[in-house]
Amino acid sequence: MGDIPHDLLQEIKRLEGLFSVDTEQLKAISNHFVSELQRGLSSEGGDIPMNPTWCMGFPTGHETGTFLALDMGGTNLRVCEINLPEERGIFDIIQSKYRIPEELKSGTADELWGYIADCLKQFIEYHHEGEKLDTLALGFTFSYPATQDYIDHGVLQRWTKGFDIEGVEGKDVVPPLEKALDERGVPIKLTALINDTTGTLIASAYTDPEMKIGCIFGTGCNAAYVEICGNIPKLSHMNLDPNEEMVINCEWGAFDNAHKILPRTQYDIIIDKDSPRPGQQCFEKMIAGLYLGELFRLVLVDLHENRRASFLEGADISPLKKPYSLDASFLSDIENDPYENLQETHDMLVNLMKITPTKPELELIRRLAELIGARSARLSACGVAAICKKKGYKNAHVGADGSVFNKVCLLFHSPWSAAY
Ligand code: GLC
Repeated sequence: MGDIPHDLLQEIKRLEGLFSVDTEQLKAISNHFVSELQRGLSSEGGDIPMNPTWCMGFPTGHETGTFLALDMGGTNLRVCEINLPEERGIFDIIQSKYRIPEELKSGTADELWGYIADCLKQFIEYHHEGEKLDTLALGFTFSYPATQDYIDHGVLQRWTKGFDIEGVEGKDVVPPLEKALDERGVPIKLTALINDTTGTLIASAYTDPEMKIGCIFGTGCNAAYVEICGNIPKLSHMNLDPNEEMVINCEWGAFDNAHKILPRTQYDIIIDKDSPRPGQQCFEKMIAGLYLGELFRLVLVDLHENRRASFLEGADISPLKKPYSLDASFLSDIENDPYENLQETHDMLVNLMKITPTKPELELIRRLAELIGARSARLSACGVAAICKKKGYKNAHVGADGSVFNKVCLLFHSPWSAAY
């Protein structure tokens, strides 16, 4: 970084100060996280909902049959047909992905359920053309905070991940989807509603009996883990066997909504304020895929406009001013730029944002991408460390999935042991 002008270097230092979370802070965050997990299980409750899933059985690996799974994530809808043969822990899977159109995320409930049922119908017609099908059992992975009661209703508490569809919050999401399927005559019976973290945990447990935690690092971020009923005071009135196990869907995206410990920057505050649900999902808004590109964009716009240093001087940055115009994968592409002169980063910025940064500006841009990715990974590690601390695990298998886990740089940055 020798050739970087002094004012830009100062800005890099400022950003490093803002986005770095050191080991001591990580430990303090994990410890606070443990007490918040506990509070969520108590009758009083806290920021983290700690939803009982009523998922109390675990696969043995000997299950057999053909099942459908529908995964409604933040960006895509995935339909899978899974075949479990006799052989233990083995499975075959066919799947199709459908993009959730942006306008649907703020459209009507009927449009949403109709779209999902149409995708399922298309899937069946494509993969089973002309076949006479028995009714297939469908597990619906609904990756939003839905509280289940013990007779398996799934009431959506609140939308997360930028969704804002009226008339769904506070309602059971199963009957309207069943109705849309019936109307289309699709031979499917909806048999289970599950969060994606619980799904990840259970699916991973099918192949690995040591599995204890399921995590999603994707558009949103969350985890589920195995608790004993005796540790869930808010269910004590149900007189469950205290030693029986139940999966808890933490909904940890809501960690620190009370702003007690997370080192929020001015950019995090803007993201929250301009989101459809201000004040909610504080932790998620600092770490999840939906927000990483936006954080990066907000910093760049601020650097250009606040003129503490000369940055993209004289450039027309109007394309960069469009909210949510940068995807989290943009950050991983920058981090993965193999060229010393950051040629790929330069070309991406020219093509996508119509800006032509200088070499020192590219250096700052790369450092910023690393800082945002590293902060996301380090804070995510606090959640995993907190569950392990709460349960007293020295070793645990964690199943993980999601676009940020698969594509962004969690693996380079994750300080699991620092956070513990
Ligand atoms: C959001 C949702 C949560 C989901 C997570 C990962 O945090 O509220 O239910 O598990 O995203 O998709």
